[in-house]
Amino acid sequence: MHATAEKTKDHRYEMKRRDFLTSATAAFAVAGGGLAWPARVFAAETPQRLQMPPLIDTRASGKLAMTAQAGSSSFLGGPSVPTAGYSQGYLGPTVIMQNGQLAAEIGNTLGEPVSVHWHGMKIAGDHDGGPHQPVLPGEFWKPEMQVNQDPATIWYHSHIHERTAQQVYNGLAGVIHVTDGKDDDRGLPSAYGIDDLTLVLQDRSFDRAGRMVYEPSMMDRMHGFHGNRMLINGQSGAVAAVPSGVVRLRLLNGSNARIYNLFLSDGRPMHLVATDGGFLPQPLALEVLQLAPGERAEILVDFSVADAPVLMSDPVQSYGVLEFAVDETLPARITSLPDKIGSQLEDLTGLDTRTRQISLDMGMGMMMGGGGFAINGKSFDMDRIDFNVVLGSVERWIIRSSMVAHPFHVHGVQFRVLSEDGSPPRPENSGWKDTVLVPGETEILARFEHPASKEMPFMFHCHILEHEDAGMMAQFTVS
Ligand code: C2O
Ligand code: CU
Ligand code: CU
Repeated sequence: MHATAEKTKDHRYEMKRRDFLTSATAAFAVAGGGLAWPARVFAAETPQRLQMPPLIDTRASGKLAMTAQAGSSSFLGGPSVPTAGYSQGYLGPTVIMQNGQLAAEIGNTLGEPVSVHWHGMKIAGDHDGGPHQPVLPGEFWKPEMQVNQDPATIWYHSHIHERTAQQVYNGLAGVIHVTDGKDDDRGLPSAYGIDDLTLVLQDRSFDRAGRMVYEPSMMDRMHGFHGNRMLINGQSGAVAAVPSGVVRLRLLNGSNARIYNLFLSDGRPMHLVATDGGFLPQPLALEVLQLAPGERAEILVDFSVADAPVLMSDPVQSYGVLEFAVDETLPARITSLPDKIGSQLEDLTGLDTRTRQISLDMGMGMMMGGGGFAINGKSFDMDRIDFNVVLGSVERWIIRSSMVAHPFHVHGVQFRVLSEDGSPPRPENSGWKDTVLVPGETEILARFEHPASKEMPFMFHCHILEHEDAGMMAQFTVS
């Protein structure tokens, strides 16, 4: 099924959902996972309504308490498997934050060290939650954070060196909304789970008995682990109910390695309003939105026209990601797109005082069964600080990928993309970013506003979690 082939100006909205689903149901098993799930299993399921993660609103209390815990989850109506989550069995709550003091208290009742890294937060290294801040079994981590950044959809996940891929796969991840309470003024949908949907996109691998499995082969370690089924917020085959109006989708690619090229089955546009670090000045209409592991995007979709489309990925060899259905009983609060959202983005061009070359290396060593994953020729070492950045300075980093496109992530900052292979950034990369897919050579500009010590440095790494764990990571201090 090549839904994009149907897309001409005249036929844009004509493809009926029913026709589409006849051929698309089988395509909800994702390509490239090796083992295709038999289509009839999905077809026989009565579609469930997609649930949002539970909400923790920290705005009144200035406090956030979560506990990493063991779970037991059944995803396809198959046997339960051991999973993990924050304060629940798989994934964690959506946390609402505003600028100001936030005292977190993270517990761990699992049998191994975990962490809570605030991916996308502009905070000091002491509070970053990376590999240097493990929460040991039975202990607590209590960072007193100062939230100070633009509204954005960010996330959190465990970040224990060599265990991140397995732990995130098991469920140790969740979403954060940083908000300033002014979305009504911006004309943006903001009713959680009604016209403002939080969607964690993850591909997971299931065996024939319907058990979720993580058994990366040598090839999986090379290319990153790809699953054979899509989970959205930990649910498979669920349908998202939406009002007949403009709906905001906050998308997180929480997959270990899969890159999505998202589009809507009837070709209707997705209006990009925010990238990793916050709002764009105005919506950008996209037909295809690329989302690499670790990246977020907020899009607006108008569900008031025709039948609800299916969110799909990959124009070639496409597969279904999430089905929508209009529910007329839900209030359609926003009925038109805002034409302006945020203020002009600060331009860092010309402010850089230092340039660094960063190569994301996959050597031949790994073909022989290990090694070879490195940054600038060096595999990650917890005890080696790779460089220091002057606090408050702007730097230009030129990042080069080897062999495959790597999603590059930096802790402690939001950066701007200056160029991609010599061209201006694609729309997806035109706003504030903390993670960017580097197909060839990408230049970024970042201002380093938060300190990080030798004991609690910031990481930068590939966000294909198998690559990160294998050593495609490095660390820096800011002082
Ligand atoms: Cu999403 Cu270093 O992490
Ligand atoms: Cu991060
Ligand atoms: Cu990589």
